[in-house]
Amino acid sequence: RNVYHYDQVESTNRTARELAARGVPDGTLVVAEEQTGGRGRMGRGWFSPHGRGIWCSVILYPAVNPMDAPPLTMLAAVAVARALRRAAGVEAGIKWPNDLLVGEKKICGILTELSAEMERVNYLIIGMGINVNIDRHEFPLELREIATSVQIERGRRVSRVHLLQNLLAELEYWYRLWEKEGFAPVLACWKELNVTLHRPVRVFTWKESWEGWAEDVDADGSLVLRLPGGEYKRVVSGEVSLRA
Ligand code: BTN
Repeated sequence: RNVYHYDQVESTNRTARELAARGVPDGTLVVAEEQTGGRGRMGRGWFSPHGRGIWCSVILYPAVNPMDAPPLTMLAAVAVARALRRAAGVEAGIKWPNDLLVGEKKICGILTELSAEMERVNYLIIGMGINVNIDRHEFPLELREIATSVQIERGRRVSRVHLLQNLLAELEYWYRLWEKEGFAPVLACWKELNVTLHRPVRVFTWKESWEGWAEDVDADGSLVLRLPGGEYKRVVSGEVSLRA
């Protein structure tokens, strides 16, 4: 496998984009000890202290329409959840579409970025940030109540290399399965690991927010919400709050 390892980058997603534009091989991994400008979803940042987490991005060139990208991000969430279980003994649940939580606290976030042209994806960057060996008091105050790490959950430090190896093996397994059989088997596993469905939620997008019952996730990864009036609403992308 092609691996680019850095001590410090602004964002592994940004470095991955530059490498993808140069046409590095499918499956190339970019991993950094530290990010100075780690990016999160919804324009947020991502706390990425030196040597304490897995801050990485995988470059893929799937021959799909950009509309088929959300399932690939959900696939990454499945891979991380399973790797956390197998390699670190942490039971994380998936909050739609791709946050990993232990209890209500986030242990991993995933940010997918893509470049597309003529309804075709040129390249897809799946950026994953896993909080590994971070102590509670090392999190900035504003994150302390909403973030956790493997170290906090297990009460000891764990090997980032071992966890990353497991993550890559899981990613490869689920990606091959997706190529052969499509999204259905991935979605089935996603549903087993999810903590979003069959409960009241609030869903935010850039412009709007809705409160309702998280009924299901459909075949393209959209969240199906049942609104108080009884009508259904499909949400393609957004952020879920479980404290509706
Ligand atoms: C989120 O907001 O939940 C997504 C966070 C994604 C963070 C990872 S860390 C590696 C990669 N590079 C980035 O700049 N962001 C992602």
